[in-house]
Amino acid sequence: MKLLAVDTSCDESCAAIIDTDRWALLSDVIHSHVDSMKKFGGIVPEIASREHLRGLPLAVHEALELAQLKPTDIDHYVVTNRPGLIGALLVGLSFTKSLAFASQKPFSTLNHIEAHLFSPLLTTLEGKKAPPFPWLACVVSGGHTEIFHVESLFNYTWLGGTLDDAAGEAFDKVGKLLQLSYPAGPKIDKWARESATQEHRSRHKFPKARTESHTLSFSGLKTAVALQVKKTDLSNSDEVLSIAASAQEAILDAIVDKLLHSQQILGVPTLVLTGGVACNSRLREKLPQAHFPSPKHCSDNAAMVALLAGYYAKDNRLKIEPWSATAYPSLDSFSPHSMGEK
Ligand code: KG4
Ligand code: ZN
Repeated sequence: MKLLAVDTSCDESCAAIIDTDRWALLSDVIHSHVDSMKKFGGIVPEIASREHLRGLPLAVHEALELAQLKPTDIDHYVVTNRPGLIGALLVGLSFTKSLAFASQKPFSTLNHIEAHLFSPLLTTLEGKKAPPFPWLACVVSGGHTEIFHVESLFNYTWLGGTLDDAAGEAFDKVGKLLQLSYPAGPKIDKWARESATQEHRSRHKFPKARTESHTLSFSGLKTAVALQVKKTDLSNSDEVLSIAASAQEAILDAIVDKLLHSQQILGVPTLVLTGGVACNSRLREKLPQAHFPSPKHCSDNAAMVALLAGYYAKDNRLKIEPWSATAYPSLDSFSPHSMGEK
């Protein structure tokens, strides 16, 4: 079966095609809106919706061309319809519905966070081993920081998440305070990797919130960085670097400490991280034992959606949606189908 998957939950228009008989990815296309967002210093939901109107048809067209297929060659269409920016999700959902409708093929909806969660299994499409279950898994992105106990495919429990900002949001807010362009996460990572010394990383002791059980918090850090920035001459690049590198340490140490603690409490041997912040090289250095998807597949992509749909299809559980299906912005909208049946 050939499945075409679409993801438009945030600011990337993504399309990918999987052949479930050969268990192979036929195409995997990402059109990023980052350049359009730079002048606004962050994501503007309405601009993201408009960019999807422009970028999604291009991404789908390219995915079909790369796979040398026509829309009618696709057996089943899939789209993430939750959680995310509602306007962005609606563009992806309407476009995917229309493709399915015109090709007279069924379509299904999936949960974006669940797709991130199982993205470490993309290695199976390259004939490589998957990280062994059970996992302590963390989806750490611009919109979410969620911790899960994954016993096996489709069988998992949400343990907790951030009480306020997501980790990627913390990176981006620190970057904004330091007048770095959006998204600041990759810039802070690269700058700190290339130029920061141990002294830069430890010059400022930014707070790591002590939160209950499997929760995290980054709002105190943001306030502490804002106070430090007020006292700092931002034309002094050594000072800016030290704030960026010290803030990165505080964000990452909070994540690392929490995950190692949760792993110990639950006695789960395999640690898995995914989502945009999982691209971070310092995080990978701090957790050499953990499993990370490739950077391309940590950030938003449709290959992870195609893969999850492929697993549901193999298990005869890819539920066909009615033409009236809609989209939902928040994680509260988890449904039994999208988040695994209990
Ligand atoms: O998963 P993602 O591509 O989009 C969603 O939020 O769903 O994550 C984007 C976030 C942004 O906040 C970005 O600054 C952060 O991930 N990010 C990074 C790195 N690459 C992306 N943060 C730290 N280090 C990185 N290398
Ligand atoms: Zn995402």
